[in-house]
Amino acid sequence: MKNYIEPDEWKIIESGFDPALNRVSESLFSIGNGKMGQRANFEETYSGPSLQGSYVGGIYCSDKTRVGWWKNGYPATLDKVVNSTNWIGIDLLFDGEKLDLAKCRLQEFRRVLNMKEGFLERTFRAELASGNAITVTAQRFCSIADDEIGAIRYTVQPIDFDTDLQVISYLDGDIKNEDSNYDLKFWEFVADECDELGIFLHAQTVKTGFHLGVYAHTAVGDTAHPCAGRMIRDKNYIGQVFETSVAANQEVVIEKTAAILSSLNHDANKLKACARGKLRGAIAKGFAQLKKEQAEAWAEKWEHSDIRIEGDVKAQQGIRFNIFQLFQTYTGTDPRLNIGPKGFTGEKYAGATYWDTEAYCVPFYLATAPQHVSRNLLVYRHRHLPQAIANAATLGFTDGAALYPMVTMDGTESHNEWEITFEEIHRNGAIALAIHHYIRYTGDADYLADHGLEVVVAIARFWSQRVNWSEDKQRYVILGVTGPNEYENNVNNNWYTNTIAVWCLDYAKSALQYVKANHPTRYREITAAISFAEEERAHWDKIASLMYYPYDETRGIFLQQDGYLDKAQLTVSDLPATDRPLNQRWSWDRILRSCFIKQADVLQGFYFFEDRFDHATLQRHFDFYEPRTVHESSLSPCIHSILAATLKDEQRAYEFYLRTARLDLDDYNNDTEDGLHITSMAGTWMGIVEGFAGMRIKDDTLCFDPFLPAAWHSFSFSIGFRGTAITCTIRTTRMEVTHRAGPRLDFRVRDKPIQVENQSTVVIDVF
Ligand code: BGC
Repeated sequence: MKNYIEPDEWKIIESGFDPALNRVSESLFSIGNGKMGQRANFEETYSGPSLQGSYVGGIYCSDKTRVGWWKNGYPATLDKVVNSTNWIGIDLLFDGEKLDLAKCRLQEFRRVLNMKEGFLERTFRAELASGNAITVTAQRFCSIADDEIGAIRYTVQPIDFDTDLQVISYLDGDIKNEDSNYDLKFWEFVADECDELGIFLHAQTVKTGFHLGVYAHTAVGDTAHPCAGRMIRDKNYIGQVFETSVAANQEVVIEKTAAILSSLNHDANKLKACARGKLRGAIAKGFAQLKKEQAEAWAEKWEHSDIRIEGDVKAQQGIRFNIFQLFQTYTGTDPRLNIGPKGFTGEKYAGATYWDTEAYCVPFYLATAPQHVSRNLLVYRHRHLPQAIANAATLGFTDGAALYPMVTMDGTESHNEWEITFEEIHRNGAIALAIHHYIRYTGDADYLADHGLEVVVAIARFWSQRVNWSEDKQRYVILGVTGPNEYENNVNNNWYTNTIAVWCLDYAKSALQYVKANHPTRYREITAAISFAEEERAHWDKIASLMYYPYDETRGIFLQQDGYLDKAQLTVSDLPATDRPLNQRWSWDRILRSCFIKQADVLQGFYFFEDRFDHATLQRHFDFYEPRTVHESSLSPCIHSILAATLKDEQRAYEFYLRTARLDLDDYNNDTEDGLHITSMAGTWMGIVEGFAGMRIKDDTLCFDPFLPAAWHSFSFSIGFRGTAITCTIRTTRMEVTHRAGPRLDFRVRDKPIQVENQSTVVIDVF
């Protein structure tokens, strides 16, 4: 836990510099635009602790699998987002002395992430080894208005000394992933060039063959008298050296603009020409105009997604940080892109897609972004259906059954821990559930005819083959799984998995029915293409009606899995603080034998399928499972916060919320240096909107059941629902709903029907 970020409503601020915190700050102050991201590395050389990180969405490398004991079915290679060309590099030499903050005496230092306008600013005053002092102000952003452009404005001033200044602006493609399994580099040089416009570096990923072309223009000094650059080259590196004499206290402005283009969107042979065109357009606008467009693009995003919290500036900063990082990671413009658990802010989790997207992120984007944004997350999985079918086939499944990978970049499995890769199969359920959530929120049931049905049926086919009939129980069972609680492996009849499997079978039936009734031609096309046989439906029915669910009659609770009660029944309060976190203090063997739960498991099912359970049943399960849960996944507290809110336990709802709201800003888990917990940030948003405001969709209608955390004066959030934009404010005595745009909205607050239209505000007395 750290406490060095200054509270501010719209900014993340670090004052003073502690090298030991630099990697944490590099994650926190990351910038991105949905297509690419950049850790908050310094532009100039820094020899202290740092993870240089530039990432481009969808560009990955295949790292050779490294395991101690090979198991058939493991993927031979693992895909990872590849750390890409460093486009921000600007080295400075003052009379030959290289600026390196690790070797200077820092007199002032401040890093600010301006979330309102979407840029990073760093200012410092440093004393060089020569004894001379300089000041620097550097601003940069990845343009969200033009997502292939990055821009930097770097201003340097020698204090009270004249100097010969050398500026080296470079592109470095000789970059390695920190987590490379065999210390391999994944980039090979293709071409470079230095011309009147600037420097160009073209590199290609080994094996996966992605091309990345970066063209950078650097202007040093005032535009009327720009100083000319001399080219330097090294291995997969090209730079320009600018030399200029600077008088004492004269400001030198360096503007570096980069066009970062990949073969994902351009013909690899035309990368240079395309990047050149892009770069010219950006230079013509200039840094100030690009920054203005950036602010406008962010204003638009905030208008539809902002959450305002009055009375608690740290909470305000926390939620805006989460929303900001989510939009820096995913903007929904490209169905080939997704949301890695660390986004573009680090290499952990390989930048790959997990079930986190469907289970946690989809609800956020549904409410805060145009419909195509969340739709593209669904289309992403539809595009991967052939690989999911192939993946299932590798494991022995047949007839078009699909098992989506636990971790993926391109649809193939990219994970090789047997207990996760082969067993954590509940992920398939979240993918079908996200389709249902999307349709429930948007009303766009035709998505089923477009893409959804094939996915849903392939998933149902998987479950129908993965179950087996137990003669002993006279029930269907699902053996050898890992549930969401990864602190149990190879268990039988994980209640959550069995529940979501049956839900998928039922949903597939209703999806078939919908498409048959509403899109008969398409229905015939799809069922012919996937050789769907009517008997399958009957088989699914049979499985659904005869599924086994472990249950304890005495306590009146579903058991997390068979035999869960054989474990010594302790609670987290029995654990000495020195034993936590268990995953760092206990042997894996001890964790597996204990009753302790990593994250919501049975309760994840209660969250997803809440309509099936009354409050007394939820309360019993919450009271049993939560005290055994160590919340060692960042995805856990938000689900508990929402359930506590449902149970009207406002205090605990708020306490759980606090555990995620500033998870990274305060570095609760001492792991922010690896990157931010992007997917759990969506859970934090859910904590406010679904938890505190109690938002649900019931019968095509938005419903609320709000409360105000005692520590806040009020909170408000903006969402869109089926073409209508509203802002909801919860105050101590009332809820206000303001219509901002679109058709009239009929909604309910605690079952009371209400309407709002024409930019009016309705006030509802709820307290
Ligand atoms: C959690 C998984 C999650 C993964 C990536 C793990 O710690 O247990 O549920 O998918 O992190 O966020």
